[in-house]
Amino acid sequence: VTTIRLEVNGKEIEAEVEPRTHLADFLREHLLLTGTHLGCEHGVCGACTVEIGGEIARSCITYAVTCDGAKVRTIEGFDADPMMTRLRQAFTEEHALQCGYCTPGMMIAARDLVRRKSNLSRDEIRVEMSGNLCRCTGYVGIVNAIARVIDDAPSAAVAAPTHGAWLGPAPGPLAERADRAQMPKAAPSAERKTAIAERPRTAVRKAIQVTVGPVEEVDGETRFSQSFRLDHPRDAVWQLMKDPEVVAACMPGMSLDGPPEGDQVKGRMHVKLGPISASFAGEATIQCLDADYRQIITGRGGDRKSGSRLSGRVDYRLSEDPAPNGDPGTKVDVTVGYVLTGSLAQFGRMGIVRDLASRIAETFAQNIEARLTDPGAEPARTTELGGFSLLLSVLLEKLKARLSRLFGSS
Ligand code: FES
Ligand code: FES
Repeated sequence: VTTIRLEVNGKEIEAEVEPRTHLADFLREHLLLTGTHLGCEHGVCGACTVEIGGEIARSCITYAVTCDGAKVRTIEGFDADPMMTRLRQAFTEEHALQCGYCTPGMMIAARDLVRRKSNLSRDEIRVEMSGNLCRCTGYVGIVNAIARVIDDAPSAAVAAPTHGAWLGPAPGPLAERADRAQMPKAAPSAERKTAIAERPRTAVRKAIQVTVGPVEEVDGETRFSQSFRLDHPRDAVWQLMKDPEVVAACMPGMSLDGPPEGDQVKGRMHVKLGPISASFAGEATIQCLDADYRQIITGRGGDRKSGSRLSGRVDYRLSEDPAPNGDPGTKVDVTVGYVLTGSLAQFGRMGIVRDLASRIAETFAQNIEARLTDPGAEPARTTELGGFSLLLSVLLEKLKARLSRLFGSS
């Protein structure tokens, strides 16, 4: 067993857990916080959603030992939260629950959504909430309730919290924060003190809206464009975005094998979609056009496990885009074209590509923004990209195809 210390709903807890104990079991069985429900127990249904360090995560696929030093909030910890109060009222008024099994996870995910985004259509709310399943309601009441809270309080959307960030299971102890210093602690060991002192600051992430254009197939290549805006002067953004090491550090799932050699760089991109993961290793050529504030990256690589191959080109250009009050700003326009072959090519379908591209770009833009604001901060590392909603799209497409075959043959 391992001794862990963590904060749960504002209370400091010290406990001995087995390495295999999931956070959900720990919360329910050790702490008797049974508001955290277990449905699928493998990261699909969202019933077990809790907040870890201010970010939502699935407690059924998070080991309790990885939460050593973290702040965890379960549904029981939101009693006095004003936004949760508004959501509770809207859920009641819109009849957004029946058996209530999905409700704790649904409300924590809904609160996270309302906190991050405003001006969402009902379709967008459905997509955003697609990682939480409800077997009773048909979702209409849930979507209406969330839309009502968003409409009533568009200003509710705020930047992501500053407790560090990741999508998926907790990566382990979080960066030490000033507010954590207030927690009474048992005397940490000398090694632990050194480890804490050496932890890098995690970048503060600010919500950034990414616009993704239509995904098109042209001559066997998948193409799309996307854009986002940063509240920083173009030269400052360019200094960061022309540096391949910074770009790789800010890109979720990406790492370089070493420093660039001339205009060549080698690295790998890890993408995880629920239980499916791929690691593309490859190389790229970088063409840097300083005068145009433009960079073109052309690369190719492969995932050995699945035998899939990926080749493509990312072309981005920066333009000045001042705010209405004259404050400097930069618009980043990106175009992407790629060919994916092999067993992972099914993930090249348009809806999935659009969703994945938007999530990657959002995290990337937030990391660049955080770097610009605090150059010493470590970017938030993300290796899992909203796996469930993407996976669900694939499964639904397969189901649709089967049904149409069935109808066709009957
Ligand atoms: S119980 Fe955790 S996602 Fe279903
Ligand atoms: S209300 Fe029953 S599962 Fe959602």
